[in-house]
Amino acid sequence: MNPERFSSHDLTRANTLGLPCVAERFCAPGNLAELQAALAEAREQGWPLTLLGGGSNLILPPFLQGLVVRPAMTEWWQEESEEGSLRIHAEAGVNWHELVMGLAARGLWGTENLALIPGLCGAAPIQNIGAYGVELADVLEAVEVVHLADGSVNWLSPEACRFGYRDSVFKGALAGRVVITRLVLRLSRRAQPRLGYGDLASRLGASPTALEVAEAVCAIRREKLPDPALLGNAGSFFKNPLVASELAERLLVEHPEMPHFPQPDGRVKLAAGWLIERCGLKGWREGHFGVHDRQALVLVHFGGGSAAELMAFADRVADSVRDRFGVELEREPRVAGEPVLR
Ligand code: EPU
Repeated sequence: MNPERFSSHDLTRANTLGLPCVAERFCAPGNLAELQAALAEAREQGWPLTLLGGGSNLILPPFLQGLVVRPAMTEWWQEESEEGSLRIHAEAGVNWHELVMGLAARGLWGTENLALIPGLCGAAPIQNIGAYGVELADVLEAVEVVHLADGSVNWLSPEACRFGYRDSVFKGALAGRVVITRLVLRLSRRAQPRLGYGDLASRLGASPTALEVAEAVCAIRREKLPDPALLGNAGSFFKNPLVASELAERLLVEHPEMPHFPQPDGRVKLAAGWLIERCGLKGWREGHFGVHDRQALVLVHFGGGSAAELMAFADRVADSVRDRFGVELEREPRVAGEPVLR
């Protein structure tokens, strides 16, 4: 680690929403030993700790007290296992999309539907990233973590990760207790395209390659989702709500065209983007924030705004959906330094 490892750092460009933020102290450990040393120092000094990945699912306050750690281990490698499949090891700092494209280009199947999801590998398990009918949980074999309390390292099985829709143990029992340092994924050499979601199949031929699937996913995402390099955003700002079947049925009487996805547990998943659009909010702008005009689930930052303003804007969107449909929307991005924000 460089000698200025604990100096203050401007994080405005380190979060895809582009919210202005300064970290009191910052470091980017390049290996496990450096990470453990930084965690030990934070413990000794009593610094509050914030973990940062690609900053693509994060709402940052203007000032973050304590130490911000962004793991900068960026190696990935493959390990042959039984015939037809192989394991991929990816360290926390590896760019997720670059990894996906590298695997697809090698003809390896499993992650191609997850192309162009922003962020780093270390953050992928936290919200169990998912798109186009595939979730990280479908390919994940193990997660390496370092415990903040004592710097010890251990491996979690997929069961221990307790994956759900946009959910995992890293948002629950292990929130604020571990740093994810490495993923092990299981990929396949055998073609296994999953093209059931939306119009993915209609964009591809009969036997697409993994790379063709990944490229089709990129094309769809580019059509709908704003590029954070051009317009600040954190992807989906809300989760798709899971509601009781009675509520879904009542809404379907009035809106038979409403997208709805019955779940194994009897609840029904609704499309938050559809609900927001039906409130007339698609493309709505107020102050420095707006609802994206091509995907209402995404809130965008036009520059010059703050986290507090964004939260107030998001509350107004959620209030409209509650008033109109009786459905509660839950925020998807994590809020860093929550006590400082509120
Ligand atoms: N819809 C609308 N209006 C909108 C947006 C969507 O009517 O403004 C409707 C669509 O027509 C469709 C349904 O809602 O019938 C679902 O839309 P879409 O396929 O675009 O997916 P989504 O449910 O809005 C989820 C993920 C996305 C992921 C896509 C594709 C969540 C919270 N979001 O969005 O994830 O890319 O499915 O799998 O589950 C992200 O997390 O940042 C993200 C972009």
